[in-house]
Amino acid sequence: MSNIVAIGIQWGDEGKGKIVDLLAPEMDIVARFQGGPNAGHTLVIGDQKTVLNHIPSGILHADTLSLIGNGTVVDPFRLVEEMDMLLDAGVPVYDRLRISDRCQLILPYHRALDAAREAAKGEGKIGTTGRGIGPCYEDKTARRGIRLTDLNAEDLDARLEENLRYVNFMLTEFLHAGPVKRAEVDKALDLARERLLPLAADVPLILHERIKAGARVLFEGAQGSMLDVDHGTYPFVTSSNTVAGAALAGLGVGPGQVDKVLGICKAYTTRVGAGPFPTELYNAEGMDDASGRHMAEKGQEFGATTGRPRRTGWFDAVVVQHAVRINGVTDLAITKLDVLDGLDEVKLCVAYERGGQQLVSIPADCRALDECTPVYETLPGWSETTFGATSLDQLPANAVALLRRIEEVCECPVTMLSTGPDRDHICHL
Ligand code: GDP
Ligand code: IMO
Ligand code: MG
Repeated sequence: MSNIVAIGIQWGDEGKGKIVDLLAPEMDIVARFQGGPNAGHTLVIGDQKTVLNHIPSGILHADTLSLIGNGTVVDPFRLVEEMDMLLDAGVPVYDRLRISDRCQLILPYHRALDAAREAAKGEGKIGTTGRGIGPCYEDKTARRGIRLTDLNAEDLDARLEENLRYVNFMLTEFLHAGPVKRAEVDKALDLARERLLPLAADVPLILHERIKAGARVLFEGAQGSMLDVDHGTYPFVTSSNTVAGAALAGLGVGPGQVDKVLGICKAYTTRVGAGPFPTELYNAEGMDDASGRHMAEKGQEFGATTGRPRRTGWFDAVVVQHAVRINGVTDLAITKLDVLDGLDEVKLCVAYERGGQQLVSIPADCRALDECTPVYETLPGWSETTFGATSLDQLPANAVALLRRIEEVCECPVTMLSTGPDRDHICHL
């Protein structure tokens, strides 16, 4: 047995898509267990770039089955668009993809609520991706969500009418926005009936049978641990559990099915959207610093989903240690080492300071986290290029020293190192 949970352990965009795509040929199944079109996972193969929102990052491989689990939220318009993009590129999506009949549908009123709530919050907004993620998960928990299987339910019409009465009251009376029309919702449902229902499946049953027959499964996380609704920088988080434990509930498998937890993180840190970020150096709102600007520019730090510029800062080992604990990370995959090429020195945040005291873990109160200042260790940088390196002996000694220090401080071995966006830019350690 060697099933792997691969998750982001910072604030998302760690390079999960790249790592999952490159591990996929060794796996029989790649499965998404949470999140939805808020995710943007980039795969680069030669001069071809593919960005996936819902579909697992194993989809480009002929012998890998892709599963979308019950823990995810699916927007019919966007998922069909994504399927068509792949079909146009010659990927036989209908042969390779199955969608849990229990997954929740993101409907036009979820997007309308997401937008209206963010607008009403003004300065205090979360900076969501605007994809209706929060409102859809709220409906799931409130037991009024519409799942893929419900498209054929006898009481669908009545449930939708009730949902729309509630949503339109919230939108017009409370949030001062326009109402959502039933016809818009019906368009989404018709599309889901026509294009998604044929792919609906009992995902736990597929997993159970395939695992019994010896299949290897890669559980692909979305977002990152610091965006987890319980363990992240609440309320500046997404609305699902993004931690490794969520892979089980989000697909319907037991704890015994996970052999390895691969924590994916950049050699520095980025965040998109609002919320605390102790090691932040640079952002589009006017915070400036030469090293932070170097990371943003060289790392091309723009959101794969929304195109928003990402905030950048030094590697935060307090964040990664927190992630190692809450996920049971067994291996680290460090990405974007090449982006640090050319910096005179690199820093690691090894603790926080607040009110004259040193903290070695993340405070639960995000206002307290906002008041933390990083305690840095400074290491010498390197002028050589690491771009595209495929083995440790191609790296300058200072880059290797940085990796070794990360392993020591985070108490976890680095077993993969990514040195460029392409599938082939990888060192297995
Ligand atoms: P994900 O959401 O975790 O899958 O990450 P994204 O795709 O949103 O963002 C990661 C970005 O970094 C993408 O543009 C990748 O192509 C790119 N990338 C991934 N690994 C590396 C790397 O090692 N070096 C460089 N320069 N870019 C990388
Ligand atoms: P991947 O899978 C980075 C952030 C948003 C916002 C917060 C809540 O590509 O790593 P939401 O729309 O989920 O309600 O937004 O979470 N966010 C992400 N940031 N990468 C992502 O996904 C993200 N998905 C959501 O920017 O701060
Ligand atoms: Mg992303």
